[in-house]
Amino acid sequence: MDSYLKANYDYWQSGYTAGNVESWVFRAFGRILKPEFGLSGEKHEKLLDFGCGSGAALSFFDRNGFDVYGVDISKIDMSRCKERMPHIADHFTIVDPTPRVDDVFFDGDFDLVTAIQSLYYYSSGDLETRLISLKKQMKRGAIIYATMMGSKSWYYDNSAERENGLREVNIDTPRLKIKNYFVNFTHSEDDLLSKFSMFKRLHVGYYDARYIETEGSDFHWIFIGRA
Ligand SMILES: C[S@@+](CC[C@H](N)C(=O)[O-])C[C@H]1O[C@@H](n2cnc3c(N)ncnc32)[C@H](O)[C@@H]1O
Repeated sequence: MDSYLKANYDYWQSGYTAGNVESWVFRAFGRILKPEFGLSGEKHEKLLDFGCGSGAALSFFDRNGFDVYGVDISKIDMSRCKERMPHIADHFTIVDPTPRVDDVFFDGDFDLVTAIQSLYYYSSGDLETRLISLKKQMKRGAIIYATMMGSKSWYYDNSAERENGLREVNIDTPRLKIKNYFVNFTHSEDDLLSKFSMFKRLHVGYYDARYIETEGSDFHWIFIGRA
């Protein structure tokens, strides 16, 4: 495994605490996925959440009728998903941090793939490999919803350039200690579209927030595309 993947893998073994579905997920569902693409959950549409963490988004889509599946590298988060959704405990699995184009999760054939704050932990080469693998597992015309950390984020201000599109982030505040952590930031809308060029662009958006003066922007791009 590449050393940057091992570093990110080690970081995420402590898990990601997300109590509830985030507004940029339920609003995207209510404003776009459901009205524009008919992805309502009524047809029990098959959904993969790549890098699903502790399953906050999946739990929301499960309650809305989707046939949900989640993959992640974090063992503790996969346990949390199983506890959170015991009726579908076999719909969650730990995956290898290294992407392969022929990876298949839960027999593929997905109507919707979500990747919420998870794909930027790949170098540029590995991101392309992962996106190829996800596209191959989507039904023709299926939708991808992905969010990518932007270089307007305060993480970027605390990072240094490394190779293959990656930057190493170092943050040391009373709340947050991050080191040996690698991110592939997205610099502009053109950069976002270039990263996702294998999909037909449907929508580009963003979300942002700042909570305290000692920290900066949480800026993330949103990409919605069709396979
Ligand atoms: C910021 S958290 C977001 C979790 C979840 N999507 C959410 O929004 O609540 C990033 C997630 O990406 C996962 N991740 C990081 N690198 C990964 C990789 N190479 N393969 C799969 N998942 C990965 C982490 O384990 C973590 O759960």
